[in-house]
Formats: sequence, C-alpha cells, structure tokens
Amino acid sequence: MTVVISATGLYTPPYTISNAELVASFNAYVERFNAEHAAAIAAGEKQALLPSSVEFIEKASGIKHRFVLEKDGMLDVERMVPIIPERPNEALSLQAEVSVAAAKQALERAGRDPMDVDAVICSCSSLQRPYPALAIEVQNALGAGGFGYDMNVACSSATFAIQNASDIIRAGHARSVLVVNPELCTGHLNLRDRDTHFIFGDAAVAILVERADMAPPGAWAILGTKLQTRFSNNIRNNFGFLNRGDEAHRDDPDKLITQQGRKVFKEVVPMVSEMILQHMAELDLKPSDLKRLWLHQANSNMNRLIAERVLGHEASQEEAPTVLDTYGNTAGAGSIIAFHLHSNDFKAGDRGLICSFGAGYSAGSIFVQKSA
Ligand code: COA
Repeated sequence: MTVVISATGLYTPPYTISNAELVASFNAYVERFNAEHAAAIAAGEKQALLPSSVEFIEKASGIKHRFVLEKDGMLDVERMVPIIPERPNEALSLQAEVSVAAAKQALERAGRDPMDVDAVICSCSSLQRPYPALAIEVQNALGAGGFGYDMNVACSSATFAIQNASDIIRAGHARSVLVVNPELCTGHLNLRDRDTHFIFGDAAVAILVERADMAPPGAWAILGTKLQTRFSNNIRNNFGFLNRGDEAHRDDPDKLITQQGRKVFKEVVPMVSEMILQHMAELDLKPSDLKRLWLHQANSNMNRLIAERVLGHEASQEEAPTVLDTYGNTAGAGSIIAFHLHSNDFKAGDRGLICSFGAGYSAGSIFVQKSA
C-alpha cells in the first residue's frame, strides 16, 4: 500500500530576534556579571565571562535571526527567559494552539475535513507537560476522530513520527494521520550561555500522512523511511519532574539544553551521510535521482558537508535549501519547514529527501516522490 504526505502546514511566531539584538542583550549581561564579580574575578575565584559576537554566530552556524513566541523576556538582562504565562486548564494550551494553527493549514491544503483524521501524533523535542497527551488536546480542538499520543525524539521528532504514521496506516489502524511538531525551543534555551544562546527559534509544523487512495492530487508518495539512534550525551537537557526537589541543582544550566557542538558536528556528519547513502542503496536510488535534500536545520556548514557526501558535489541552495538563516534551529521542525517552503516547483515524478538529525543521537530519512 502506498502512503503519502498529503500536505504540510507551518506556524511561524509573530516576533523575530536578530543576532545583533541577541548579542547586545548577552553582552550587557556579561558586562554586568563581570562588574558584579570583579573582586572574585581579580582574586581568581571566578572566571570572567567572554562576550558573544554577531560575526561568530553567522559564520559558525549560518543563523541570522530567529522567530520567537515572546521577545521582551528573552532580551531583558534581568530575566533572559521568555515570559510565557501559564494558562488555566480550561484554555487551549500553548503547544496545542500552535499545533492547531499548523494543522489547520495542512488540512486546508489537503482539502481534508478534520473529522476524517483517524489519529493525531504530537511529536517534539520538549513537551510542556507529561499528560494528558498534547495530541489528544489537539485532536479535541480540531474535532478529529480516532486516537492521539505524544512522542519525543528531539530533533528527529517529525521524521520518526512520519514513520509511525506510515506504519499505523500500513497496519490498517488508520487511513489519515495528522503529525504535529510544535517546537517551542526558546523555553529550554540558555540565553546566558555563550556557546548556545543563539541556536534556537520557535515554530510548529504539521504533516498529514494518508493512504494514497484518499489523498489529494500532487501528494508526496513516501518511497521509504529509515531511522537510526545511537546514545550520546553531547546534546542533553536534564529538566524533568524527578529533579524538582533537588534544591542544590534547581538552577543548574543543565536543566536547560547543553551541547558539545564540535563533537556533535564531527560525529553526526558521518552517521547521517552514511545512513542516507545506505538508505539510497536499499531503495536503488542514485544521487541524480534526487532533485532536492530538505535537511535538518542546525548548522549550515554541517548541511553543506552532508549534502556534498550524498550528492557527490557541492550542493546549491536549490539542491539543499537553508531556512536556518531566518528560523534558527527549530529542532524537529527544521527539515519540514525547508520542505514546506521549498517544494512548490516539484513536478510529478520528482524525488527528494527529508532528513533529520539531532539529540539521542537520532536520525531519520524519508524519500518522497511527487505525484501527479
Ligand atoms: N561568540 C563569539 N565567540 C564564540 C561564541 C560566541 N557566541 N561561542 C564560542 N565562541 C568561540 C569559542 O570560545 C572558540 O574560541 P577558541 O577557538 O578561542 O577556543 C571559537 O569561538 C570556536 O568555538 P566552537 O564552539 O568550537 O565553534 P564551532 O565552530 O564548533 O560552532 C556550533 C559552534 C554550536 C555553532 C557548532 O559546533 C554546531 O552547530 N554544531 C552542531 C550542533 C548541532 O547540530 N546540534 C544539534 C542540535 S539539534
């Protein structure tokens, strides 16, 4: 049975933060910290903090700005966290709200009535609560049928969920599965950490996965999916309900995202490019069979290397488009945003690859072919 991606949807938050704005706030924090601790720094008891720079961020990552849900709290040197008020249980929760916005766009593009959706999977790097599942709240808000559940595979959340959706359909448990990937990443960003303060932005995407025989014209046949994981502590976030009583560590930076970017870069590039090449061999695909790679958006240099290893030549912006410059790293949403924004020119028969990689480590590749 052929399973397809019928349509995708994208929610982009209302605010943007440029590198210059982010760096100005970070450097004001550094100046203040160093002044406040001048004596301890002079005595060698504390390390002076170093300033960040716009040039470094652009060169090392490719990020120029990011979209965010809330800006003032992020830039306010007193806070340096987004101010996101908690909502009452009766109100739609924030992650459900952005999921519904992306989902409505995907459903509309597919001409699908929400009542025809048989399952909702909410898959993302950080869920705002353990239960009830966000997916069930989204299912309820849309008026969808069937069942819903949440899952988390960090930056590979969307691709892993697409495979799950595809498997559910092939097994006959559903005909139409809505995947939502609400990546509200700024909530776990450490804006006081020079190495990582610039990395993430917020966005949500939705992917409608369906049986080919009910799909709209122009849907994307899923030619094959492949997932891989390998344990690593190089990207980690220890926030969780089991450590809330631990006074000594409550404000530890490791309750936010931490990463060894260099190690990630070195280890993930070969892991992902080998996986893609192996998957291509399994599906009997050559590099020339692919019109485009929609890669995970964490680092432009990393994408350049992976694309080159897969295609055998340096990829043009058309062959491996970047959305990182405007969106920042949006975890699982990145490759889907690239796909959503850069696929309109595909003709029937054109093929491409959606590929994610990130914490876990986790990687997922999905080859698709445009239908008539
Ligand atoms: N401003 C200015 N300089 C900075 C800086 C900042 N904000 N942060 C670090 N630097 C400095 C470092 O101190 C270092 O200086 P040194 O050479 O004198 O020691 C230098 O810049 C290089 O730092 P490094 O951390 O090695 O940079 P990098 O080139 O590896 O880039 C990342 C950092 C995070 C952008 C990059 O490693 C990356 O994106 N890796 C992949 C991460 C990833 O894919 N994660 C998945 C998450 S989903």
